[in-house]
Amino acid sequence: MLTPKQIVEALDKYIVGQDDAKRTVAIALRNRYRRSLLSDEMREEIIPKNIIMVGPTGVGKTEIARRLAKLVDAPFIKVEATKFTEVGYVGRDVDSMIRDLMEASVRLVKQKWEVRVRVTAEAAAEQRIVELLLNEGKIPQKANDNGLGALQKLFGVNDTATQLAAQNSTGETASTDEKHGKRARMLDELRSGMHENDIIEVEVSENNQGNDSMLAMGIDINVGELFGGVLPKKTKHRRVTVAEGRRILIAEETEKLTDMDEVIREAIEKAEQSGIIFIDEIDKIAANGGVKGPDVSREGVQRDILPIVEGSTVNTKYGPVRTNYMLFIAAGAFHVSKVSDLIPELQGRFPIRVELKPLTIEDYERILTKPHNAIIKQYTAMLETDNIHLVFTEESIRAIAQYAYYANENSENIGARRLHTIVENLLEDISFNATGEHPMIDVTIDERYMEEHLSKNGESDVDRYII
Ligand SMILES: Nc1ncnc2c1ncn2[C@@H]1O[C@H](COP(=O)(O)OP(=O)(O)OP(=O)(O)O)[C@@H](O)[C@H]1O
Ligand SMILES: [Mg+2]
Repeated sequence: MLTPKQIVEALDKYIVGQDDAKRTVAIALRNRYRRSLLSDEMREEIIPKNIIMVGPTGVGKTEIARRLAKLVDAPFIKVEATKFTEVGYVGRDVDSMIRDLMEASVRLVKQKWEVRVRVTAEAAAEQRIVELLLNEGKIPQKANDNGLGALQKLFGVNDTATQLAAQNSTGETASTDEKHGKRARMLDELRSGMHENDIIEVEVSENNQGNDSMLAMGIDINVGELFGGVLPKKTKHRRVTVAEGRRILIAEETEKLTDMDEVIREAIEKAEQSGIIFIDEIDKIAANGGVKGPDVSREGVQRDILPIVEGSTVNTKYGPVRTNYMLFIAAGAFHVSKVSDLIPELQGRFPIRVELKPLTIEDYERILTKPHNAIIKQYTAMLETDNIHLVFTEESIRAIAQYAYYANENSENIGARRLHTIVENLLEDISFNATGEHPMIDVTIDERYMEEHLSKNGESDVDRYII
């Protein structure tokens, strides 16, 4: 588990500034971990302090959430509060947040199991490939195909018994020693990579058409899962290379080795105890002063969300999940409405407020060049594929930052998103004309280039913005 300092450092790689917000979420995350180490009794008492992040548009609120998601080893989902106000959103199904979180949790726990059973699954898959190769790539014919086999599975009849029976019925008379030898040789050959392109047959489950149309109708039920695997799965044989077959068989063996009951139990525990839900655009469901109409539904959404944030039990297809100890982080620009426009009960559930600051010219400069995925790095890498090596002078970076800053001041303030627009415009000519049909050339982006290209692309008044 990362320390708050490490969390901030990890966020620093992508987000410039906003130190308060980073610290606050880092502490909240670490507190989840601290709480998990306490006695049951103590833990029950400690309810997470939900956070609300407030700050203008385009300064990193959503970005912090996105990066956080990749950082934490906890079930995490991000939802837009506006989703629940959308016309046609049946029953404003806010419970779907918790169902989505459970899905995330199940995925997480499953991945852990995959790692745990990996070696065993690989060995089992290898054995099956050896069997297949010894049988000219074909799946051995079982005497009792499909129906009976499925029934036997249903009543827990041992699989190996069935297989042995099938083998005997092929009437092989070879001595066990001979068989052993053959198998060992084949295993050696397989491991040396001799058979990677041989063709083997594997059984894959056929995608059930029914499910898709159910999904299209918005019905969130998987028929197969509903019947808990009682229905024999529809399968078909596919001919694939050993290399591909191995992946399929490993996946199959992994599934066999995964105890789904245990996965679900762990996943519920994880979702309840360390789940994090990021509610973005929360300002959009706040009332904005006396205007009738949409406000009613906005307040309705707040009232719907309230019990979830306060702590309640939500039914999911994996069973009931309690929301009492989940951490909620909300974010919003709040330039039309204010936090105090949220219904008081909801405000009360977000005791920690953190303000994100408007970005400065220096921030813009750093955003252009410093983050791991910095805009300038992205464009440079893209154009390099067409043999153009972009060189930005320090002055030009500064000029882009200034230009962005003043453009934001003078027209709509869209924060760092402005940088994307500007750089895209700036490089439009090059992006359009680059063909890659020449050896690598350097193209220097300096102030002169900027002046020429920004004004040309409709962003007038460059001179006014650049000082
Ligand atoms: N502080 C920052 N450091 C690095 N990149 C940033 C920063 N702020 C914004 N960006 C970049 O600007 C874009 C918009 O940022 P983000 O989505 O976080 O805005 P936001 O604060 O959620 O705004 P909104 O209120 O409109 O939702 C993203 O591409 C993001 O990478
Ligand atoms: Mg956002």
